[in-house]
Amino acid sequence: MMVRFNALVVISLSLSLCFFPDTISAQLRRNYYANICPNVESIVRGAVQKKFQQTFVTVPATLRLLFHDCFVQGCDASVVVASTSTNKAEKDHSDNLSLAGDGFDTVIKAKQAVDAVPGCRNKVSCADILVMAARDVIALSGGPSYAVELGRLDGLSSKASNVNGKLPQPTFNLNQLTSLFASNGLSQTDMIALSAAHTLGFSHCSRFAKRIYNFSPQNPIDPSLNKTYATQLQGMCPQNVDQRIAINMDPNTPRTFDNMYYKNLVQGKGLFTSDQVLFTDTSSQPTVRAWASNSQAFQNAFVTAITKLARVGVKTGKNGNIRRDCAVLG
Ligand code: HEM
Ligand SMILES: *[C@@H]1O[C@H](CO)[C@@H](O)[C@H](O)[C@H]1NC(C)=O
Ligand SMILES: *[C@@H]1O[C@H](CO)[C@@H](O)[C@H](O)[C@H]1NC(C)=O
Repeated sequence: MMVRFNALVVISLSLSLCFFPDTISAQLRRNYYANICPNVESIVRGAVQKKFQQTFVTVPATLRLLFHDCFVQGCDASVVVASTSTNKAEKDHSDNLSLAGDGFDTVIKAKQAVDAVPGCRNKVSCADILVMAARDVIALSGGPSYAVELGRLDGLSSKASNVNGKLPQPTFNLNQLTSLFASNGLSQTDMIALSAAHTLGFSHCSRFAKRIYNFSPQNPIDPSLNKTYATQLQGMCPQNVDQRIAINMDPNTPRTFDNMYYKNLVQGKGLFTSDQVLFTDTSSQPTVRAWASNSQAFQNAFVTAITKLARVGVKTGKNGNIRRDCAVLG
């Protein structure tokens, strides 16, 4: 009898450990709004679809916004907050995140659509809306559809000074990438999977110019870059190019969420050092090769990784609230 009782305790303990890997995510669940705003997911999807039909930029802009939100002070929509005369917010960090305006607009439009439904008004957090919107843009661009966990609150502060050191740089090597992601509870495998977001969207020339013009005294061009690709990049980004020029990060299928990112890396077509290093470093190369040839394995890893990303630093209880206007604290 005693033995059976203990076995039951062990089973239920390990079950709850796998459903709630840490206390931070303990309050997140898939059907969080079932009794609060039952149609929230279809309302958000409708608003995202509408925005997507207006401009494709919605897709990369929203996905990158989620990443930057979660890595700075947790997934609490602090990145969406606008600066005021007394507070310089995250989005206006001097490092210039160059986050595209359409990501912010997507969250604001989806929030408006949710709040237009009387029962839902002021009941759904901006943080959850961003998580749903990112899921929807991935599906709209051909990526996997997956269920999202909900129940985040919005953060109570947003400070540009908080951004320092929290985001990866395009010059990072594998150890730097791995340790920054580890500090957010993400494994090296998660990091490699999430990096595939660079299968979509744009980069300004300045972010990789050193790799094609003055890499080192011996090698003006980074030897890990495909030579044909390097020449193409020089053509699109001549020296002294207009600072506003941005180019596709995936030269082959820039509007499709696919595993082309890894195929490109195998061919030396990773745009940033932080992309190409995933292939040149022998510890991550097997994963890159595996996902370059197996789209399903990549998609599974991506869904696992983005689900973990969306659990980072979630606010609950008195550490958060539900903003009326996603861009305004309080
Ligand atoms: C692994 C380390 C990463 C580094 C060093 C990095 C760095 C960058 C840089 C420098 C840009 C170009 C910005 C510009 O010039 O406008 C960029 C764009 C982008 N990043 Fe990352 N990123 C990383 C990981 C991620 C992750 C994890 C995601 C999302 C899951 C992501 C999503 C995006 C997207 C979608 C764009 C295109 C934005 C647009 O077109 O508006 N990145 N990233
Ligand atoms: C920095 O951000 C501002 C506001 O979003 C934008 O107008 C400006 O062009 C950006 N500068 C660079 C160098 O990206
Ligand atoms: C470089 O790119 C070209 C064409 O885009 C491709 O045919 C070639 O195999 C690539 N080189 C390497 C070393 O992968």
